[in-house]
Amino acid sequence: MGDLAGIRDRLPYLSDLGVDALWITPFYPSPMADHGYDVADPRDVEPVFGDLAGFDALLADAHARGIKVTVDLVPNHSSHLHEWFVEALAGGPGSPARARYVFRDGRGPDGAQPPNNWPSVFGGPAWTRVADGQWYLHLFAPEQPDLDFTNPEVVTDLETTMRFWLDRGVDGFRIDVAHGMAKPDGLPDMVPSADTGLFADDGPADHRFDQDEVHLIHRRVRSVLDAYPGTMAVGEVWVSDDERLSQYLRPDELQLAFNFRLLTAEWDLEGLRTAVEHSLATVAATPAPACWVLSNHDRPRHVTRYGGGERGTRRARAAALLQLALPGVAYVYNGDELGMPDVDLPDAVLQDPIWERSGRTERGRDGCRVPVPWTGDQPPYGFSTSPDTWLPMPAGWGPLTVAAQADDPHSMLTLYREALALRRSAAFAGPSLEWLPAPDGCLAFRRPGGLVCLLNVSGAPLQVPEGKVLLASAPVGDGRLPDDAAVWLHR
Ligand code: NOJ
Repeated sequence: MGDLAGIRDRLPYLSDLGVDALWITPFYPSPMADHGYDVADPRDVEPVFGDLAGFDALLADAHARGIKVTVDLVPNHSSHLHEWFVEALAGGPGSPARARYVFRDGRGPDGAQPPNNWPSVFGGPAWTRVADGQWYLHLFAPEQPDLDFTNPEVVTDLETTMRFWLDRGVDGFRIDVAHGMAKPDGLPDMVPSADTGLFADDGPADHRFDQDEVHLIHRRVRSVLDAYPGTMAVGEVWVSDDERLSQYLRPDELQLAFNFRLLTAEWDLEGLRTAVEHSLATVAATPAPACWVLSNHDRPRHVTRYGGGERGTRRARAAALLQLALPGVAYVYNGDELGMPDVDLPDAVLQDPIWERSGRTERGRDGCRVPVPWTGDQPPYGFSTSPDTWLPMPAGWGPLTVAAQADDPHSMLTLYREALALRRSAAFAGPSLEWLPAPDGCLAFRRPGGLVCLLNVSGAPLQVPEGKVLLASAPVGDGRLPDDAAVWLHR
């Protein structure tokens, strides 16, 4: 499965790579209807992943190495097996237990229609009917009932969960669906949209996300964090409008919000430059640094997104130098540093609820969640003692393993290790960048400390300008930077 003890064992690898903080996705007791984002008890450890003592040991070892540890906070919903939801079902309509969730009567003559037209992010309606005839809201799977944040008990419980982990010594949280939680009064119908996804692109027309009242909750979150100096929260905020997104980063709200523009950008000059400009504009008037991400557990890995194969890998190398040259915070998804692609998994092993809820038309996110290969030529590549890993690992990954890449000067792993080491140097100082004039199809910027990053997506090789070459994603020995490549210079 991969577990907390496994992460603890691999801390030396993470230190060596240059990682200075971890975000661990949910490891709490869960029936695993959605990869652990269906939490049955937010203040304990799922036995499959270990126990609280094991978590404390991981935390202590990470801290001893100077690695901070952040954990996932999943406020918007619980598991249907959370004791509160079990009580809500038993309590019946109008009961206080039901008021912790979003239960409503249905529409139509006998209430047989859902209370409104909201779709679930995972497909199908966002409502499920229970035996007594009422419906409950679930923006995600039916096994993830939405909590009602207008109920003070729900907010207090979130604070209790935060303090539980902060008292153990965690350095902060990644907040799941941080633009969810607040729902408009009366739960009005939304403007139907073909894309039911997480991005609140339709602004106020999509009533499921990014409601103004959500900021009240983030202020409560911030008050808890402020009592634990040095801690922070990063929000998963799928809001594309710069101004709306920046609101989550006001001085009394979150310290960081992922900016998903790079994660969703096409591999072309316009897409990449726009992603960088908007991310910087979003944070410009806030106390927050920009927060860059190329891949995560919800999206196709960028090697695959950029075309896969040799081309995808070449672009991924260049993208790494772009990401790691930018001012702010960089999140590296496990396996980015190995150049892992997505895996085409057989139908029978798919676990993502999207697969079933889309009527088996969308394969979902399992392809980017396959375990990391460590050693050897065959599955499970040192990830497990069992060949039956929770998602199967494909044949042919020997060259991708950490062991195969560790001492290869041309490997993706070496590129990441060198880039992360350089990133700590004075050349990268300063919170800003200055765009430099660049040939057509190229992007160039300079950091105040003297680092220059040049990215070539022009389709042809480019003369490398003067300066000391610090690192390049492809050979530049002849003074030319190939297409789909990036170079770091000091000038
Ligand atoms: C966002 C998480 O990243 C994703 O994996 C999960 O399915 C949803 N939130 C629901 O919790």
